[in-house]
Amino acid sequence: MFNVKSKMNSGFGNLQGGLFSKIEKADVGDGVAKLLSSGVDILGWADPFFPDPSIPEKVKKVMISALEEGKVSHYSLPIGRPELRAEIAKKISRQTGLDINPSRNVIVTPGSDSGLLYALMPFISEGDEVLVPKPSYPSNFLNPKLLGGKTVEVPLYDEDNYAFRIDEFEKRVTSRTKVVLITHPNNPTTTVFRKENLIKLCDFVKKHDLILVSDQAFEDHIFDGIEFVSPATIEGMWERTLTVCSISKGIGLSGFRIGYIYASDEIMEVLYGGAVNVLGAASTLSSIGAEAIINDVEYLDEVFEKLERRRDLVNEVFKDTPGISFRPSESGILTWINVSKLGKSDDIANYLLKEANVLVNSGVPYGMEGYLRIVTACIADDDKARAVFEKMRNAFIKKYYELK
Ligand SMILES: Cc1ncc(COP(=O)(O)O)c(C=O)c1O
Repeated sequence: MFNVKSKMNSGFGNLQGGLFSKIEKADVGDGVAKLLSSGVDILGWADPFFPDPSIPEKVKKVMISALEEGKVSHYSLPIGRPELRAEIAKKISRQTGLDINPSRNVIVTPGSDSGLLYALMPFISEGDEVLVPKPSYPSNFLNPKLLGGKTVEVPLYDEDNYAFRIDEFEKRVTSRTKVVLITHPNNPTTTVFRKENLIKLCDFVKKHDLILVSDQAFEDHIFDGIEFVSPATIEGMWERTLTVCSISKGIGLSGFRIGYIYASDEIMEVLYGGAVNVLGAASTLSSIGAEAIINDVEYLDEVFEKLERRRDLVNEVFKDTPGISFRPSESGILTWINVSKLGKSDDIANYLLKEANVLVNSGVPYGMEGYLRIVTACIADDDKARAVFEKMRNAFIKKYYELK
């Protein structure tokens, strides 16, 4: 029998998208749609306010006009519309103080997932190694392998609030190490890596002459006044850092599929060169919508307030729930909960689905047993969200007393 997988590289050959396995992959198939239609509350989809509408009126208006004018049936540029790159450059400068040239330092990607793989592509050949802190966004563990490289996991520890331990990086660096790939703030833990900790990581990157890829999909919402530092701004890092960002989480426009990378001219020369082949071009209509909102600070403040309120609601509802523990989120739309006293991650996630009709993420794909990731900013309405959190709290309490 013809074995087509034997023709593939091992990174792709080992992939399973759910067609032939018994377990459907909720994040690629129609698993979530089925659960949603059966009345399950989905808190396992890192998508602000899902499944409720979240397009700002202003964005709707410009997109409708653009549709009516009819021009959006045409390609944007493979590196992104100049208007969008100009807005993105403004946003980066506003957030980091970096002087960004929109025609040299920014590329638009169709969502940041493709940007994350593209950022690694120029650097990773067969056998090259990528250091990836764990826990982390699951794509970070897979992407190096898709390119024929090797993922080398570097543990982070709950007791350190998941800060980098540089000695753990030092233990794993080899002559094949090319890249350090971080998610900052981290998904699933929400950790904002502090400046002193980042400087130490950057010293390590420079000492070993490596590249840093910093996935900053969650950079827009940092709570409690914690300072957010983009590693590209740290001395000696601009020339060796690719920063990958998105409008999916920060602005809540995940369906637009707009992400972007910023980096030095030398790196961007290469990314521009391969843009047609690898990225095609982002959607023209979405780009026009994104241009209208990326620097609307008033609207962004409104989203921030909503997310902060939701973060506080989570703290209020889950505080002192027996059997679980968590830290208030430092960023974004997630909460990372230690459920190890109640059972294994997968078992507790399945239990919540049955007992509370809620889908959350097991911590295992993120790299840790005994934890759950909850996307607490799903569901737009605060009262509805509260009711879902309360169902979950009751389920945790029930489990705790069953085990006693
Ligand atoms: C940490 C992180 N980076 C990147 C992405 C990709 O987001 P998008 O492709 O919507 O920009 C996600 C999505 O969940 C994420 O959690």
